[in-house]
Amino acid sequence: MEGFERSQHLPPYVFSLTQKFKEVAQAKGIHIIDFSMGNPDQSTPMPIVESLRAAALIEQNHRYSSSGGIKPLREAICRWYQRRFNVSLDPQDNTVVTLGSKEGLAHLMLAVANENNVALIPTPHYPIHHYGFVLAGAKLIQIPLGDDQPENFAQRFCQRIIEGLEQTVKGRAFIVLNFPANPSGHCVELSFFEEIVAIAKRYQATIIHDFAYAELGFDGYQPSSILQVPGAMDVAVESYSLSKSYNMPGWRVGFLSGNATLVSALRHIKTYLDYGIFAPVEIAAVTALDQGDEFLVPIREKYQQRRDALCQMLNGLGWQVTPPRATMFLWAKIPSAYRAMGSVEFTRYLIDNSGVTVSPGIGFGETADDYVRFAFIADESKISQAGESLKAMFAKDGVTFEDLAS
Ligand SMILES: Cc1ncc(COP(=O)(O)O)c(C=O)c1O
Repeated sequence: MEGFERSQHLPPYVFSLTQKFKEVAQAKGIHIIDFSMGNPDQSTPMPIVESLRAAALIEQNHRYSSSGGIKPLREAICRWYQRRFNVSLDPQDNTVVTLGSKEGLAHLMLAVANENNVALIPTPHYPIHHYGFVLAGAKLIQIPLGDDQPENFAQRFCQRIIEGLEQTVKGRAFIVLNFPANPSGHCVELSFFEEIVAIAKRYQATIIHDFAYAELGFDGYQPSSILQVPGAMDVAVESYSLSKSYNMPGWRVGFLSGNATLVSALRHIKTYLDYGIFAPVEIAAVTALDQGDEFLVPIREKYQQRRDALCQMLNGLGWQVTPPRATMFLWAKIPSAYRAMGSVEFTRYLIDNSGVTVSPGIGFGETADDYVRFAFIADESKISQAGESLKAMFAKDGVTFEDLAS
């Protein structure tokens, strides 16, 4: 269709592409083993569901809720930040409830950026980090996350951010961060956030940190919040999601916290766009944040076990991968025998020839075409089925362990 310019700037969304391949393969009778979307497959803890049920029986909760979140939820968010990170927030000024974090990030970008702004986007990235700014009309500079060793990563990445900021006008730049990172699994320590906050202040830049995987650190790694840095709230906001930590992806609840001006901009634009979330969902979110800590441990353990099983399976076949320290994703370089196909064609080939379904790297940035992403949404028995299917596909293609490992 002609003239729908804003939507024409959006390529097909990464997951709709995989979904299409999957449907075609299923129609051919291929058994799908799905690792594609970061859509938690476990059930929401029962006390959270019970809290929703009780709240749904109260008629008053059926009315329009409050754009930006009911006060009890904003207060629960402040208690959560205090308990988890020793960060003090004001429930009125420093936090706003969002319809999942994706909605909050997209509308924040729309509220605060336009063609006079430049956004520095680490690549590979979760799509809305990039396309939220595309929709807002801002200019973009891609900052490669790179494949530096973890001990060099923070310093080199900060250097690349500085080089990006040098190309911008003071006061007009946004820096998007997402640590632990989807899809690449990059992780940082608090010292990185201290440095990046100092850099942002020097260039009068604004930081938007997506903290969706705050609770999914493995082997004892505990991700830090950027708001732990003294003075971070002068320049930064942080989004969080209940989707991953509490197995609540369909509930659509998250929040954005930190800098009062940015929080207020998002709250303001949202008064025009929505009437908030169904109040019983918000009441259940209070239960999750206040009483949910005990559920985090088994959820995290399950992802860690799946990570280990998946990495072991792939490495056992010769497909060399490095286990991430956090998130629910494995970012895997396409084996050299198949790399020339590019990630979309390889994804299609993998589904057609093994049923194993992943997300193509290119959906996470143009420079990520040599990669695919596995999500930890399949249990160990499916991982072992996937291992058998891949083994058969490699054998049929004459691709040996040594070829895969090269
Ligand atoms: C990094 C990141 N941010 C945000 C989201 C969106 O999550 P939600 O909108 O469910 O909170 C996701 C989902 O996969 C994600 O990986």
